[in-house]
Amino acid sequence: MGHLDGKTALVTGASKGIGYATARGLARDGAFVLVHARNQSSGERALEQLRRDVPDGRFDLVVADVGTLAGTRQLAATVLDRALRLDILVNNVGAMYSDHALTPDGIERTFAINHLSIFLLTHLLLGRMRQSTSARIITIASEAHRGTEIDFDDPGLARTYSAMASLSQSKLANILFTRALAKRLAGSNVRAYCLHPGHVRTDFTRDLRGWLKIFVAIIRFRFISPDEGARTGLYLATAPMPADANGGYFENCAPKEPSDYARDDAVAERLWELSTRMVGLA
Ligand SMILES: NC(=O)c1ccc[n+]([C@@H]2O[C@H](COP(=O)([O-])OP(=O)(O)OC[C@H]3O[C@@H](n4cnc5c(N)ncnc54)[C@H](OP(=O)(O)O)[C@@H]3O)[C@@H](O)[C@H]2O)c1
Repeated sequence: MGHLDGKTALVTGASKGIGYATARGLARDGAFVLVHARNQSSGERALEQLRRDVPDGRFDLVVADVGTLAGTRQLAATVLDRALRLDILVNNVGAMYSDHALTPDGIERTFAINHLSIFLLTHLLLGRMRQSTSARIITIASEAHRGTEIDFDDPGLARTYSAMASLSQSKLANILFTRALAKRLAGSNVRAYCLHPGHVRTDFTRDLRGWLKIFVAIIRFRFISPDEGARTGLYLATAPMPADANGGYFENCAPKEPSDYARDDAVAERLWELSTRMVGLA
């Protein structure tokens, strides 16, 4: 029996990369894994491979494009319909874009996918997670959060957009979200953590152009594998954790201090309020 026997997990963006490796690791540890993919074909391909990798694993596929608030709401509704319990939520979905573009909701897409979809999905699933005896919400952030701040006047970065600036802001938002969420979960059976997975050899930078694409191509050989990139997330899903680790940021299966700005509770609360309004939960 694995550590996670009897537990149910949802991994978002699990069609490939770190999400796929995380879903496989959770299944190997005994969890029933809901595998989220953007579309049916990529999801079915991932599921076939997962079934080959973990023949006695238990999986189900949930499909939704979280690039819209309606898509995220649809994902939450499907999960609540399919899983009577939810013990582990891995907010892994993420993207990086060279060009500034808005989602059908009128929100810059990096902020929408990397932060707001996670914010909304977590809110919609939290009631089910609170029914678990012990639940964990794990969000894949990044060291890219350093050296930036949230632009509260222009979170879509219409004036200052670059692929790196929008990624950095969204990953900072992941850490601030985890911090504010943990405060709200204090004393409950649900814990929240976030992490940097390392620099991982995945498709994440596929949309890049110009010097950034060349730079990534040059240093890519030094990147770690998706399996290695999934290690800290799997650790946070399974390891016994002290109560004061709630809301923390991790790398290499150990706590790590994020930037000073990412530890500012006033900023975390301000972002929480902004996000609540932007996703229509206010
Ligand atoms: N790779 C790194 O070095 C690194 C470093 C730090 C943090 N991270 C974080 O790790 C997480 C996983 O990234 P990865 O490196 O594994 O990249 P990846 O291979 O590109 O995986 C990203 C996953 O998210 C899905 N996704 C993106 N946009 C979506 C949408 N609108 N709706 C539904 N699914 C969507 C992708 O599906 P599609 O295939 O359909 O696009 C894919 O399954 C991200 O949050 C990323 O920021 C990665």
